[in-house]
Amino acid sequence: MIRQALQTSEEEAAPAEAANRDEHIAPAPRVSVQAFCETVETAASIQAAGEDRRLGKAHLKIQMGGVAAATEAYRSSPTPNVIVLESEGRSDAILSGLDALAEFCDAGTRVVVIGRTNDVALYRELVRRGVSDYMIAPITTIDVVRSICGLFSAPDAKPVGRIVAVVGAKGGVGASTIAHNIAWATARDLSLDSVVTDLDLAFGTAGLDYNQDPPQGIADAVFSPDRVDTAFVDRLLSKCTDHLSLLAAPATLDRVYDFGAEAFDAIFDSLRATMPCVILDVPHAWNGWTQRTLVSADEILIVASPDLANLRNAKNLFDYLRGARVNDHRPYYLLNQVGVPKRPEIKPADFAKALEDDPVAVIPFEPQIFGAAANNGQMIAEVSKSHRTAETFRQLAQLVTGRAETKKAKGGLFTPLLGKLLGRKS
Ligand SMILES: Nc1ncnc2c1ncn2[C@@H]1O[C@H](COP(=O)(O)OP(=O)(O)OP(=O)(O)O)[C@@H](O)[C@H]1O
Ligand SMILES: [Mg+2]
Repeated sequence: MIRQALQTSEEEAAPAEAANRDEHIAPAPRVSVQAFCETVETAASIQAAGEDRRLGKAHLKIQMGGVAAATEAYRSSPTPNVIVLESEGRSDAILSGLDALAEFCDAGTRVVVIGRTNDVALYRELVRRGVSDYMIAPITTIDVVRSICGLFSAPDAKPVGRIVAVVGAKGGVGASTIAHNIAWATARDLSLDSVVTDLDLAFGTAGLDYNQDPPQGIADAVFSPDRVDTAFVDRLLSKCTDHLSLLAAPATLDRVYDFGAEAFDAIFDSLRATMPCVILDVPHAWNGWTQRTLVSADEILIVASPDLANLRNAKNLFDYLRGARVNDHRPYYLLNQVGVPKRPEIKPADFAKALEDDPVAVIPFEPQIFGAAANNGQMIAEVSKSHRTAETFRQLAQLVTGRAETKKAKGGLFTPLLGKLLGRKS
């Protein structure tokens, strides 16, 4: 009797919760979410949503001040994966606020708006501007969970992660050092969750460079293809800093590392599903899987040092990859270890002529700071925060994660995920 009475009163008290229990909401990946609220009620719902298990991997930050505060905040800093904006204003105020914000919004950032107006004309304008979702206040905790998770799980949702492959035009040119420093800057300065995947299984140095000696890593995944899924790969990551993880190479020689062309596909897909930025440290080699890894990456950065063999190899890589990726922008390249005393070098201008593009950076040869960083298991910015190369890595992080492109591009606005909003209207 008591049990029955309890059940009844529980069900009566929480019909919404009971319904929610049946709803399947896929968990959100490791995205950064920043909310700018105008009412404490909305802020409280979002705060509670942040404690939901499905947002357990997301980093959620809540501020007051609505769209005006958001515009102010992003004037000088990069935007997160998701911005949630509350506006108590009328339609025209919401739209003009969004237009002001759009100027500072990075490509790939998804915008969710919470308003008071239930108005088709407003929906239409929001859709036109690429807003991903519109919710009408008052909102519940589960509304927020559903909306944020839905941005990444809808059938037409773009995968959250961007894969950046870094490769040397020759061995020993500093490709790994550069990959590790860019990933570190992405995590630290852009607050984007990043993972470094060390694909040099026999000799990789990511563990050394981050001063980590994890018991597991990429080998556990690539040698157990049947077990690879998001949760499994997630367990293999070791955490280096707040936003940075490592999928380390074993760097042991007790087995050989021969793989088929598709051996890493499922691992990359799993990483891409949860990590906003996936940096691949690709060894200097040309075989089925390295070729496939480069061709299928979202961004490619070729590291060359200024001699003839590097020039020839960089040109060959460039030509091959441009041919294999006709609908993508060309790979980036940079020159590293430039200015070794007494060494005759090929000038950046000659590289630019041969590759028909300028290098995205020219990094000087600085054995003291690079040597100290390598031997101490530190990044350049940890050895010397204000060093000019640390600033170069910050800029490269912005470039390869697409955080630099859109501050300039007006009118591109937000990444559209229109289907959802359009579907709701009809
Ligand atoms: N700009 C630089 N100035 C001085 N030393 C550098 C510079 N860049 C990298 N190095 C050093 O060069 C060495 C090789 O670097 P790294 O291992 O990153 O190269 P790699 O291209 O990944 O090599 P591998 O082909 O073995 O994978 C390291 O000792 C690193 O500290
Ligand atoms: Mg390397």
